[in-house]
Amino acid sequence: MVETATQAGKKSPEGRMAGKVAVVTGGRGDLGSATARLLADHGATVASLDRAGTPAVGVHPRITEYDVDVTDESSVMETIRTLEAKHGSTDVLVNAAGIIGPAGASHTATVDDFNVIFDVNVKGVWLMTKHIVPGMIRQESGSIINFSSIHGLTGGRNVPLYHATKGAVRLLSKSDAAAYGAHGIRVNSIHPGSMNTRMSRRSAEQSDIGAEAYYKQLVGGNPLPRQGEPDEIAYGVLYLASDESRFTTGSELVIDGGYTAV
Ligand SMILES: NC(=O)c1ccc[n+]([C@@H]2O[C@H](COP(=O)([O-])OP(=O)(O)OC[C@H]3O[C@@H](n4cnc5c(N)ncnc54)[C@H](O)[C@@H]3O)[C@@H](O)[C@H]2O)c1
Repeated sequence: MVETATQAGKKSPEGRMAGKVAVVTGGRGDLGSATARLLADHGATVASLDRAGTPAVGVHPRITEYDVDVTDESSVMETIRTLEAKHGSTDVLVNAAGIIGPAGASHTATVDDFNVIFDVNVKGVWLMTKHIVPGMIRQESGSIINFSSIHGLTGGRNVPLYHATKGAVRLLSKSDAAAYGAHGIRVNSIHPGSMNTRMSRRSAEQSDIGAEAYYKQLVGGNPLPRQGEPDEIAYGVLYLASDESRFTTGSELVIDGGYTAV
């Protein structure tokens, strides 16, 4: 029987993710760690995946850390084998690992710049999906949340390759939503605006107009003229990960203080 919204609404906050296993890549980053913590606070068993050597952000009884290089298929396969042996099959995959790459117009980038950013931001999302989806197909359910960006919705002159990768993530998400809906698997993208994170500080420092003018340009004209906080993204992921969003797939959840609205 399909649960009604009223029944879902009656669940305690603890129960929103109770019984679910969630895998979060970039789990030691600013947005990934906030997401892993919130999913765990709401009852999920969380496998937080990040590059070897990246320091973990705190300790949580329901979060286990694993090393992975999302650009390397054998590393992805090995890590998924290890975590599924421990926690069972995956209900929720959050692809938050990502890099911004060097700033500069397209003609200033090198082939290496191109390969590195596409490897992490696009190939990494695809490889994680490729190796998690078979388990989701077997259990006929799953929710995949891919981190795109406002930069996957609009262009911009500072980081064209980053925009290109995030645009690719947006359409990979919609295409996978189309392919896997019949298997009970939902795929959505999330589009953060400018967030109060290390990544955002790095791109502000790299901007050719200087950090202060960069922030003013990015958030000054927004309906909500400030940067967002990591938890404000994590709550969006929690919605997409939980059964509350069971009729939502192929959608773009934009959390940007209104940046793309005006
Ligand atoms: N911070 C923002 O303002 C912002 C805005 C829009 C979108 N995003 C997107 O949100 C996601 C998270 O961003 P963040 O601000 O938390 O960045 P972050 O740099 O704090 O975290 C990214 C994490 O990804 C990990 N990572 C990078 N390469 C990896 C690899 N090959 N294998 C495994 N892990 C790898 C890093 O070690 C890091 O911990 C990214 O995809 C980013 O593009 C961020």
